[in-house]
Amino acid sequence: MHKQITSSLLRRSSPFLSRGTNYTPSVLLRGAGASQPHLNTTTTITGYYQSQLHHHHQHVQIQTRYSSHSPMGLPPTNPRKKVTLNTLQSMYKKGEKITMITAHDFPSAHVAEHAGMDMILVGDSLAMVALGMEDTSEVLVEEMLLHCRSVARATSRAFTVGDLPMGSYEISPQQALSTAIRFIKEGRVSAVKLEGGAEMAPTIRAITTAGIPVLAHIGLTPQRQNALGGFRVQGKSKESAKRLLRDALAVQEAGAFAVVVEAVPQEVAAFITGLLKIPTIGIGAGNGTSGQVLVQADMTGNFPPGRFLPKFVKKYGDVWGEALRAIETYREEVKGGSYPAEEHTYPMAKEEVEAFVGDMRRLMNANASAKTEGEGEKDA
Ligand code: KIV
Repeated sequence: MHKQITSSLLRRSSPFLSRGTNYTPSVLLRGAGASQPHLNTTTTITGYYQSQLHHHHQHVQIQTRYSSHSPMGLPPTNPRKKVTLNTLQSMYKKGEKITMITAHDFPSAHVAEHAGMDMILVGDSLAMVALGMEDTSEVLVEEMLLHCRSVARATSRAFTVGDLPMGSYEISPQQALSTAIRFIKEGRVSAVKLEGGAEMAPTIRAITTAGIPVLAHIGLTPQRQNALGGFRVQGKSKESAKRLLRDALAVQEAGAFAVVVEAVPQEVAAFITGLLKIPTIGIGAGNGTSGQVLVQADMTGNFPPGRFLPKFVKKYGDVWGEALRAIETYREEVKGGSYPAEEHTYPMAKEEVEAFVGDMRRLMNANASAKTEGEGEKDA
């Protein structure tokens, strides 16, 4: 039986070459004659490779290449109890601020979990920050569910909430309930969030009656930006502040366990907070709410320079800048040949390298001679 020795065959069959690497030993290339060896020479290798592999398996300790994307690192240094609705309620009663942040995938949830956040929201803002969509109206239930599942896998302590996307809950309380059930069963989150005030009360009632906690969302409700005339601060007039209060009371009455209050003057948010018996989670609503939420990509600075940032966002980091610096340095080091350095490679015993290279050279020389002889016979 004839087999082609190709570099891919070498990769597949050689225990020296780690899985996933595209590695041709330079020593092999250097010592193989005047021109670079092309390992696609047809040769009879039945038996040769099998016996060699058998030999190597017997004598060589195969190095394990650990995957660089193992799901978890070390457990958090501050192990804490799982946050439940009771935990949130007791924080609220004690006047302890509730911390909430968005996450849209495993790594962003993992870091939020390690930082000790009380709540993690798989917000539909991921449509923009993770999927590059124009606005949140485009994101689908299936897409949200995929993100919810990856967040849930990284979250063992924080209370997780999935955002019902536009179109998945407004038609009827039944539609909302069936979407909410999918978020719990398929998305593996602990609660759902939906936008809207008094008009959503029957919907909130239907979902909470089925045993699914609901986080309400009033004030600036981004899914309704077209009706609101854009991303506009809400509750700035006496009448609009009264409407907000009515909405807050209605969602509380319907059974929401907390309410997000977005882009509202801080006096109005603080007044509403004082009247409610459930926590308010503010975003652009000042410091008088029971807790705060921010979009993680915004507050960690995970976006390129020049991008618009709402007034209420404090940029706590420069993740984008840090990633840019790292990737640029990597690029320069690869181009310049300084990466990978010795410490990034897998060791191999010198005798093994020499034996391997020696065998290969002999094999290739034999092939080359056979080829020359064959050509000579043809010419004659
Ligand atoms: O989608 C989202 O991230 C949100 C928060 C900003 C509250 O709704």
